[in-house]
Amino acid sequence: MKYSAKYSQLVMPDDTNNVGTLFGGQMISWMDLAAAKVAYRFLQGTGVDGALTRAIEKVEFREPVYPGEWVNFEGYISKVGNSSFEVVIDAYAEGSKNKKRLACTAIITMVSVKKNSEDEYLKTPHGRSL
Ligand SMILES: CC(C)(COP(=O)(O)OP(=O)(O)OC[C@H]1O[C@@H](n2cnc3c(N)ncnc32)[C@H](O)[C@@H]1OP(=O)(O)O)[C@@H](O)C(=O)NCCC(=O)NCCS
Repeated sequence: MKYSAKYSQLVMPDDTNNVGTLFGGQMISWMDLAAAKVAYRFLQGTGVDGALTRAIEKVEFREPVYPGEWVNFEGYISKVGNSSFEVVIDAYAEGSKNKKRLACTAIITMVSVKKNSEDEYLKTPHGRSL
């Protein structure tokens, strides 16, 4: 994979829902951060200021994740547009009592931006290809 990144989080008790497993909103927030790391690498040297999340699609919660487990995120760029690019994130749960498993997947579309003279961040071509 030309542009990829890994990122990990430990599931703490405060990250759980009413049935004691990882809260889905927390998982999505971590997936967004994992995508931001992929974006950081993808955009290095392009001259843009960064990227914003435009869409989070096809989130699928496949397996519950438990407190005390690690979530290991693996992300890569799957498609590029003019200012946009698509990041696939796979989240693997890892714990001492359960074997490693694919817990959640998502496709995240980000848009590269640059700040104008009025301090607004506007879409800006990144000029990258795969
Ligand atoms: C990101 C932002 C600057 C883009 O500006 P915009 O003028 O709305 O841009 P557009 O609607 O023309 O879309 C820009 C690109 O995203 C693509 N896009 C737009 N909506 C999309 C969607 N729902 N799914 C996938 N791609 C989408 C467009 O096709 C375009 O791609 P291209 O430049 O590669 O051809 C602006 O929408 C914004 O600020 N959104 C809020 C971002 C935010 O707050 N995110 C959460 C915090 S990170």
